[in-house]
Amino acid sequence: MTRAKTAQIILVGGGRMGSAFARSLEDSRVPFELVRARDPSWTIGARRRRARLLLLTVTDSAIASTAERVASEALVARGDSVVHCAGMRGPAELVAASSVGAWVGAMHPLVAVASAERPPSLRGLSASFEGDRGAFDSVCAMGARLGLSVFWLEGVDRPRYHAAAALCATGGVALAQAAAVLFRAAASSSTTTEDSSSRFASSLLASVAHNVGAVGAADALASPLLRGDTQAVSRHLEAMALHPPAAALYRAALAQVIASLDERGGVDSAVLARARALLDG
Ligand SMILES: NC(=O)c1ccc[n+]([C@@H]2O[C@H](COP(=O)([O-])OP(=O)(O)OC[C@H]3O[C@@H](n4cnc5c(N)ncnc54)[C@H](OP(=O)(O)O)[C@@H]3O)[C@@H](O)[C@H]2O)c1
Repeated sequence: MTRAKTAQIILVGGGRMGSAFARSLEDSRVPFELVRARDPSWTIGARRRRARLLLLTVTDSAIASTAERVASEALVARGDSVVHCAGMRGPAELVAASSVGAWVGAMHPLVAVASAERPPSLRGLSASFEGDRGAFDSVCAMGARLGLSVFWLEGVDRPRYHAAAALCATGGVALAQAAAVLFRAAASSSTTTEDSSSRFASSLLASVAHNVGAVGAADALASPLLRGDTQAVSRHLEAMALHPPAAALYRAALAQVIASLDERGGVDSAVLARARALLDG
């Protein structure tokens, strides 16, 4: 008689987010099984295993139907957890799994995964969670092994929450794209390449990510404004006259940090007034 293999964690869906979890689980030597969600026979293999945590890393529109399949084919039992990773959807997507006694939740990694072939490590990063306590305990146990911090949330306004996530993820890339154009235009074409200008932007964003995590977003600013140097800001705006998308991003960023500095104090109000005048000009 062949003994059924056991897997504590089953990932359903081998796209970008599934690959990020697979990479981190492998790096941390946590046993898991990755099944391809569009393989019609995946549940046959999964039925031979016991998943204490079934992580649905499928496309948003397939979450509810995958949960229905999990429930109808009895892939989880009472006390197991079924969790999806969509920021725009709550735990109610998994009603089919909770109706058979599983704990459910929405665990949204605050992580951008652009490539399934080169996903980022989840170590040192964060995820939010909304759902049942039992499922939270389950994802926290996995997170502790991966170095992924999981934060409990309740009553999440999904569009607003996801707008914040998209602002960081899309905004960060938009800033990198615009900065890369400026870096390339700023020095001789024989000395700047697409690779070096992308690395310059990546280097700055990595240090900003460190600062935001280390001291908090409100104190993470490193800007000429803190030295009262509005002339530098004026020269930046002049230099970007030929780069309207970069100038628009710069102005939007400046408006946000002026508002934050105004609220927190510590910068001469005359400096902020000069910076506002530059924005208006
Ligand atoms: N990528 C990110 O930056 C990011 C960030 C935070 C949260 N998320 C969330 O993570 C989840 C997965 O997103 P992703 O970026 O990994 O998407 P993705 O790269 O498009 O992969 C999604 C996977 O879903 C499965 N799938 C696609 N169509 C399906 C269908 N009709 N029925 C069943 N399964 C189907 C496929 O798995 P197989 O290849 O195994 O068949 C596919 O690889 C989503 O809920 C997303 O909102 C993503």
